[in-house]
Amino acid sequence: MRFMTDTTNPNTRFDHHIEYLEEETGKSLPMWTYASEELLELEYREVFLKTWQFAGHVSEVQKPGEYLVFDLWRDSAIIMMGKDGVLRAFQNVCTHRASRLLDGNGQCKSAIQCQYHGWTFNHDGSLRGISEPKKFPECDKTKLGLNLVELEVYRGFIFVKMEKSDCLSVKDQYAPIDEFVAAYHTEDMVRVEGTFGQEWDCNWKLAWDNYAENYHIPLGHPGLQRMTREGGEGGELSTGIGFGTFRMKTKASKEIDEARYQALVHASDHRVDDPVKSCWMQVSMHMNMGIEFYTEVFWAFQILPMGVDKTEVRCTGFKRNDLTEEERELVDLNIKLNSTVNEEDKVLVERIQRGAKSNGYQPGPLSHIESSLYLFHKRFREIFPIAHQEMAPQWGTLSTENERMKRST
Ligand code: FES
Ligand SMILES: [Fe+2]
Repeated sequence: MRFMTDTTNPNTRFDHHIEYLEEETGKSLPMWTYASEELLELEYREVFLKTWQFAGHVSEVQKPGEYLVFDLWRDSAIIMMGKDGVLRAFQNVCTHRASRLLDGNGQCKSAIQCQYHGWTFNHDGSLRGISEPKKFPECDKTKLGLNLVELEVYRGFIFVKMEKSDCLSVKDQYAPIDEFVAAYHTEDMVRVEGTFGQEWDCNWKLAWDNYAENYHIPLGHPGLQRMTREGGEGGELSTGIGFGTFRMKTKASKEIDEARYQALVHASDHRVDDPVKSCWMQVSMHMNMGIEFYTEVFWAFQILPMGVDKTEVRCTGFKRNDLTEEERELVDLNIKLNSTVNEEDKVLVERIQRGAKSNGYQPGPLSHIESSLYLFHKRFREIFPIAHQEMAPQWGTLSTENERMKRST
């Protein structure tokens, strides 16, 4: 996805007071950064554990004991509604001998019980009971509750942050475009059955590079090209998110499903306010997540590492729960058309992964229409200055060298 920085466009219906970043181009990341196990370890901590990650929606955790599990590679969190009406997140790890506690979604009517030795935890994460407690005479139960994880709810979306950091809150990140997000009334939505996850054979950054630019749409996504055009609004925001819009072309696609979607897209317009009628708005939260707002549904698109060249691409959908017949058809078409786009991206990105391993390849030039990708690389280098180096550092030195470079900048 690429975001237009067209603040001078008289037709734009978005707020001109939004603080945009300038479009920029420069050098992309050197190829070794896409293949380094050592760098991945650092990335996992700094990018994935210390930033807000989308975990689910408030509609999934309404009653006391209702929970959902958010898995992030080696880590996992339980998001659970307490008897006191407070939503909390804990590490999904028993404090006795580290057994994983829960999977998927569900409700623990009474308590969370560990499957291994039967310890039980209250809905607020505190330790309720130890099996055969006399065998633990020294045990201080108050110190053995589940480890809390930071949680934030923004307009019905639940985000968690697995490790403490000074990362800007989600609310603050979204502040410049909050009124547009509000127009979708996302608090009132319910989950689209199933999660559309795929494993891609690529480094997670290649998947995000691809998400960050639209230069590949004409060839890579012929269906999108037939149906949509860029809306002319949007940009990269100083708070760390970017947004852009797409609109339906008036010329009908020659493909039946695409033409039907184009014809039906107005069916949900009555639900949203003017700036987003018949419009697709895509918001990216650097560095691994996009939220795609359609008038009838939204998708949380997440890129999660599973190894240096294995990535989970997870799409979770939420829709309105009072859809008309036409809107239900729109949602079904949306799922179908978006699945095609994801399949196309998988093929494209896996081909890059194969090419990127070629001996002697040096990154080529970036155009200004790939500026969102470049901004990602620029941000990346701010956190990992080691990525300024053309060659991978000697094995075992990456972390200390990165720290030394950070201190000297
Ligand atoms: S590991 Fe959970 S009770 Fe022992
Ligand atoms: Fe794509």
